[in-house]
Amino acid sequence: MRPVHRVFVTGATGFVGRAVIQALRGEGYVVRCLVRRGSEPSLRGVGAIERVEGDVLAPQLLDEGMAGCGAVVHLVGIIREHIATNTTFYRVHVQGTVNVVAAAAAAGVRRYVHMSALGAREGAPSRYHRTKWAAEEVVRACGLPWTIFRPSVIYGRGDGFVSPLARLVRRLPVVPLVGGGRLQPVAVEQVAQAVTRALALPAAVKQTYEVGGPDVVTLGELVDLIGRALGRRRVLKLYVPAAVARVATRVLQAVPYFPLTPDHLRMLEEDNVVCDPAPFPGAFGLAPLPLATGLRRLLG
Ligand SMILES: NC(=O)c1ccc[n+]([C@@H]2O[C@H](COP(=O)([O-])OP(=O)(O)OC[C@H]3O[C@@H](n4cnc5c(N)ncnc54)[C@H](OP(=O)(O)O)[C@@H]3O)[C@@H](O)[C@H]2O)c1
Repeated sequence: MRPVHRVFVTGATGFVGRAVIQALRGEGYVVRCLVRRGSEPSLRGVGAIERVEGDVLAPQLLDEGMAGCGAVVHLVGIIREHIATNTTFYRVHVQGTVNVVAAAAAAGVRRYVHMSALGAREGAPSRYHRTKWAAEEVVRACGLPWTIFRPSVIYGRGDGFVSPLARLVRRLPVVPLVGGGRLQPVAVEQVAQAVTRALALPAAVKQTYEVGGPDVVTLGELVDLIGRALGRRRVLKLYVPAAVARVATRVLQAVPYFPLTPDHLRMLEEDNVVCDPAPFPGAFGLAPLPLATGLRRLLG
């Protein structure tokens, strides 16, 4: 296979996208980013990259943007729907993937890397996971040399889960916790390295990797580890009963800054843990990073 030189990245302005750009540039790839109008400031400081304006829901812009690229890394995803703007999980995850895959095939790309999520499966309780699964099905049927990543929670500078939890630990005397599921957080740099290495790894073609770090934790244990990374001896926690949390998220989901929706709660109620943790770090030559060490680097 002719080596890939230029990589088209969707979702480049996001938390994972910025780390993927760094990893790709570190390996010498030319990076071309899909950027939505108004999102340009998120790419400040990422260095020399090519930028094309567009949206995964605008197929003609994707066709033009991907010309001359040897690979596509499709990272776009949303964690919250905005019904008023018709920004639904289905449109962004499934229709967006249909559009990206079609443009990638038309451009003749030689590698396609897809970011899904751990827990994606048919019949999952959350719409997020069901639509992530439907997008995977699009990828599996597309005929491109694909690789799918399914991460548990990803943490790092600017993430949307561990960093907000750390803010709660810093600011509140008691941290409210919901959901009883276990998680397997993984550092964003490791995910970005794996995405990058997958592009040059023939063995990764048509493979789906469940992605987690070496430690499985409950939310309470994660908060304790965050507390330790912040130098706290003890973090006081309040476990919100499931029934109360369900009513609260139903009533408050329309409030823009309320952090939880019923869909988030459904995900937090189930385990988000990799079945077999070995293939991910092994396949990409990564040394598993203990969660306590990763959190100290992030927060310490
Ligand atoms: N973070 C995690 O813990 C985690 C765990 C498992 C899986 N994932 C998956 O990893 C991927 C990246 O997540 P993230 O945490 O980096 O999310 P993020 O920070 O919210 O970034 C999402 C990215 O998608 C872009 N986007 C959204 N709708 C778009 C559209 N219609 N057209 C073009 N771009 C669009 C956003 O662009 P704007 O900047 O313009 O909004 C942004 O670049 C997602 O697929 C997510 O489901 C994340």
